[in-house]
Amino acid sequence: MADLRRAAGVAALAGATTLAWARVEAEAFTVRHVRVPVLPRGADPLRVLHVSDLHLTPSQHRKIAWVRSLAELEPDLVVDTGDNFAHVDALEPLMVALGPLTAFPGVFVMGSNDYFSPRAKNPARYLLPSSRRPQTSVTREPDLPTEAFARRLTDAGWLDLGNARAHLAVGGLDVGFVGLDDPHIDRDRMPAADAAATGDGPDLRLGVVHAPYVRALDALTGDGADAIIAGHTHGGQLCVPGLGALVTNCDLDRGRASGLHGWPGPRPDEFGGHASSWLHVSNGAGTSPYTPFRLACRPSATLLTLVAR
Ligand SMILES: [Fe+2]
Repeated sequence: MADLRRAAGVAALAGATTLAWARVEAEAFTVRHVRVPVLPRGADPLRVLHVSDLHLTPSQHRKIAWVRSLAELEPDLVVDTGDNFAHVDALEPLMVALGPLTAFPGVFVMGSNDYFSPRAKNPARYLLPSSRRPQTSVTREPDLPTEAFARRLTDAGWLDLGNARAHLAVGGLDVGFVGLDDPHIDRDRMPAADAAATGDGPDLRLGVVHAPYVRALDALTGDGADAIIAGHTHGGQLCVPGLGALVTNCDLDRGRASGLHGWPGPRPDEFGGHASSWLHVSNGAGTSPYTPFRLACRPSATLLTLVAR
């Protein structure tokens, strides 16, 4: 009996310690560096800062200061893959956080958390397969200032890629973008083909989407994207060391929950990967305020250095 009690005590202590650590780790903001050989031969490197899933509330002053500090990386381009909000009053704090980054060319798409403020959910729901998880977002009206946020970003010079195409001259290259609104809440619609396209097309084609659902990745690859940039998964958020992500919160496989991979097959630089696009999935910088925990999955932004193939 005493042994049982001691074992239960040890298990409870281990659980409490893990939870306390996961709370600390949720604020251990990190910059990841990833090299992507995707540019035409002879092109100079292009530095792309990928920010995603800030899930910002007005009281998160450390996160705001960290996002502001990312401007010191002096990227050639910023890509924001959505889920910026975690509070109805986060618009001004978001503009404070992102303000220094808008000094650089940028593009963005929205995630479900740019339309709907977060609600407390049963944490056990997180471990259900996405097909069995209730989609609460679509049953209520959007309550976040999505349009005002998009206007503030576009006024600052960033391009809104919600179901849209765009072009930018970045670092001497013609970069063509195709973006999708969030597949997680069925807002993704592939934009019409580029009527103005001539010749060989842009030097680089980037696909941008919040949630990396299979249908969205297939659509972007089918559209000719050289690389796809996405967020949403939080990299699994609670990972098991040595095992990785347990969930992706969408129908993407767990093996590609975060980091650089190929889509649909191996990485383009691996044997057999010539038919694939690059896929970068950010593990994100935030969490829902109702589950402020991360385990073996530090919050991050990524500096993607695009180099010649
Ligand atoms: Fe998110």
